Amino acid sequence: MLKIAVLVSGGGTNLQAIIDSIEGGKLDNVRIVKVISNKEGAYALERAAKHGIEGICISPKSFGERADYFKALSEELKNSGTELIVLAGFLVVLSSDFVREWRGRIINIHPSLIPSFCGDGYYGLRVHEKALERGVKVTGATVHFVDEGTDTGPIILQKAVNVEDGDTPEILQKRVMEQAEWIILPRAIRMIADGSIKTS
Ligand code: GAR
Repeated sequence: MLKIAVLVSGGGTNLQAIIDSIEGGKLDNVRIVKVISNKEGAYALERAAKHGIEGICISPKSFGERADYFKALSEELKNSGTELIVLAGFLVVLSSDFVREWRGRIINIHPSLIPSFCGDGYYGLRVHEKALERGVKVTGATVHFVDEGTDTGPIILQKAVNVEDGDTPEILQKRVMEQAEWIILPRAIRMIADGSIKTS
């Protein structure tokens, strides 16, 4: 049984995709031991509660020093027995110390085909705005291991999605979620749980 913690900041549709895969029997060797949000009132926490999963908010704002926030986050993860950290729309940039401590045991979903439209400042809707501005005809999503850089870690899975005439950032975001993110994130977790890719 792979024990995962899912870190979130907002709506939590990727968290929901993981929950649905577990409840639907597609991830039968995975358990979500904790959902952690950096934002009070994130809808993702409600999703967790609805499914009997423990959710908490640990906000960087409650800590004077950034290092203390990451220490508290790490303690919480260790206390809950976390073996794999899944960043599912978690918009806090991790500290190098935190990444070093959990090296090879953190994965992230990003809403583009890395190395396009990624790095500092590329998150959420902004990624799709930039893709449309550039006029790409194909975009997609990527699941990757997290290293000290922003979106620079080893790629686990990618899935392409077509851009269509008349797309707005919101329409494209929804298509990328439905056709790529919600599929490849649970799939990557399954690959790690099955041991078909090594976490470190
Ligand atoms: C998702 O599209 C995810 O790929 C993106 O934030 C959204 C969160 O949605 N993450 C990033 O942009 C990270 N750089 P969700 O809360 O509904 O899962």
